[in-house]
Amino acid sequence: MPPRVIIHTTVSLDGAVIGFDIDIGLHYEKLLSYHPDALLVGSTTAKTGIELFLDIHEPEVPADRHRPPQDPADKRPIGVFVDSRGVLHGLLHFYRRLEHTRDVVVLVSETTPEEYLAYLQEREYPSIRCGAERVDLAAALGELAGRFGVETVVSDSGSDLNAALMEQWIADEISLIVTPAIAGAGQKTLFGSVRTPRTMELISSAELGEGRMHLRYRFRR
Ligand SMILES: NC(=O)c1ccc[n+]([C@@H]2O[C@H](COP(=O)([O-])OP(=O)(O)OC[C@H]3O[C@@H](n4cnc5c(N)ncnc54)[C@H](OP(=O)(O)O)[C@@H]3O)[C@@H](O)[C@H]2O)c1
Repeated sequence: MPPRVIIHTTVSLDGAVIGFDIDIGLHYEKLLSYHPDALLVGSTTAKTGIELFLDIHEPEVPADRHRPPQDPADKRPIGVFVDSRGVLHGLLHFYRRLEHTRDVVVLVSETTPEEYLAYLQEREYPSIRCGAERVDLAAALGELAGRFGVETVVSDSGSDLNAALMEQWIADEISLIVTPAIAGAGQKTLFGSVRTPRTMELISSAELGEGRMHLRYRFRR
């Protein structure tokens, strides 16, 4: 059974995913309210997160090179990174250290550079290799369900990965924190690269204070 996939994003009134003030605490409070088994993160989002919030030059230490022991009673989600090009080579220790995730799993493809595969293997990062050029997202999610018992996935990404999840009919729901701001022209928008029109039905809407709304939609099949 494929996992349920929820796209969760904070957007401005003009649909941008960047270029305005994002309430990170609120973003993660709502994200974790889905009790996800996995957070799906695009490589650009992951690298940008390090650049924005951490010191990218902070080196790996010996403890970072080992997979933490996995406890079946640990209910924290795993962090799953889509990275066919090896963008996160040398950077995954930042994500292994995060307290709100219990493991780091990397999705790669047949074209992923061998040096990156060696980096993953030497550091005991579990990986799933499927797809010729890019990661075959549907197949990878199926394997995540089988190997890691993942039933609910929340995509915590920007625009491109979410667009692929929509276009490939993988996403089941969209969860939007709509923020009363206009980011303006030139900012990346959540739906900007989607080519196939889709319709949705409202699941719920709630006011979050300070003009913010939480809107949840289910894709019509
Ligand atoms: N507002 C919010 O809630 C929010 C949340 C997260 C991020 N952001 C912001 O969004 C920006 C990043 O957004 P982005 O759109 O540039 O990056 P992104 O969402 O991280 O998307 C890039 C990822 O999508 C994968 N991808 C794209 N098309 C694919 C396909 N057809 N099949 C398989 N994989 C595919 C890429 O894979 P490969 O690496 O394998 O090519 C890459 O991992 C950052 O500025 C970040 O701060 C905002």
